[in-house]
Amino acid sequence: MIRDILKMGDARLLRIARPVAHFDTPELHALVADLLDTMHAANGAGLAAPQIGVDLQVVVFGSAPAEDADEDEDADEALVPQTVLVNPVIQPLSHDMEAGWEGCLSVPGLRGMVDRYSMIRYRGFDPYGRPIDRTVDDFHARVVQHECDHLVGKLYPMRMTDFTKFGFTDVLFP
Ligand code: NI
Repeated sequence: MIRDILKMGDARLLRIARPVAHFDTPELHALVADLLDTMHAANGAGLAAPQIGVDLQVVVFGSAPAEDADEDEDADEALVPQTVLVNPVIQPLSHDMEAGWEGCLSVPGLRGMVDRYSMIRYRGFDPYGRPIDRTVDDFHARVVQHECDHLVGKLYPMRMTDFTKFGFTDVLFP
């Protein structure tokens, strides 16, 4: 089911999300289905449970492999496999940071430049409780850091340091 996405200013986006205690439950599978439906409907690169008002540590991101290789899709986004990540933990693997443009479905119409760790290891579980353990870099690392920030009440503008690189998408990228 496609759910409403909360927008910046809603206090529910600022909560520290609770860990999921029980895996492979109808409730968790229904939440994951809603997150995926909502992310796909909004054409997002990722979505976190707090963005639909659910106070749990669940994020979804990435995209299924394109059926048509000629599809005019962003190459970076195509590299991130569709993932459901529960109770994630992120470990930076170096001090290197990389600046990049970000947007957020809770901050519609805007883009901002954000520094993120360029290489991370992330761990967590899929909805069945099977462990996920990946070492990633570049766009994949950025998406995971952005989505997991939602679980600690952080939206990307709260990570920005240079507000000259913040603006409306249609003005920045006409
Ligand atoms: Ni976001």
